[in-house]
Amino acid sequence: MLYNDEMRRDILSRLSGYRLKHTLGCEKAARELARKYGADEEKCAFAMLLHDITKNFSQEEQLNLCKKYGIIPNDVEKTEWKMLHGKTAAAIAADVYHAPADVTHAIAYHTTGCANMTLLDKIVYMADYIEENRSFDGVKTARKLAARNLDKAMLYGLDASLRDLVHRGKLIHVDTVLARNWLMNNM
Ligand SMILES: [Fe+2]
Ligand SMILES: [Fe+2]
Repeated sequence: MLYNDEMRRDILSRLSGYRLKHTLGCEKAARELARKYGADEEKCAFAMLLHDITKNFSQEEQLNLCKKYGIIPNDVEKTEWKMLHGKTAAAIAADVYHAPADVTHAIAYHTTGCANMTLLDKIVYMADYIEENRSFDGVKTARKLAARNLDKAMLYGLDASLRDLVHRGKLIHVDTVLARNWLMNNM
């Protein structure tokens, strides 16, 4: 068994406010996508419960976790250190909650995407993007696409993220570029 009610309560007790609401929204959205696309619903839900478990941590806490778990931040992650929450959450998911490798992979790449994404990776990325508490421009289009074609929805999300990063003058993580190129060549 991946997790039980007690573990779920324990995970949720670490979250509060918007982060808790968002996580529950993600859990629900991921279950819906898993049923639609034939993925393992419990793995998708488990990944969602844990995906933002370190999101509210400070830079110091993120870097301490990186040291503890042997995560080496690249140049982009050193500047955009909040991006590290995917990788630190994945490490905690494995260490504390004994999450299997495919679940921790989906958690690690939920912010950036990556090449060769599995169905589980895609569902976690998209559920995070379209869950019911999200309200950005384009979220309705993303939800419609996700209901019809997961890859088209992924490309829509990745393109929008890349445009947003350029618009805000931010660094772009290489994994986001790799995710988009891989998707375009494989859909
Ligand atoms: Fe996140
Ligand atoms: Fe999230």
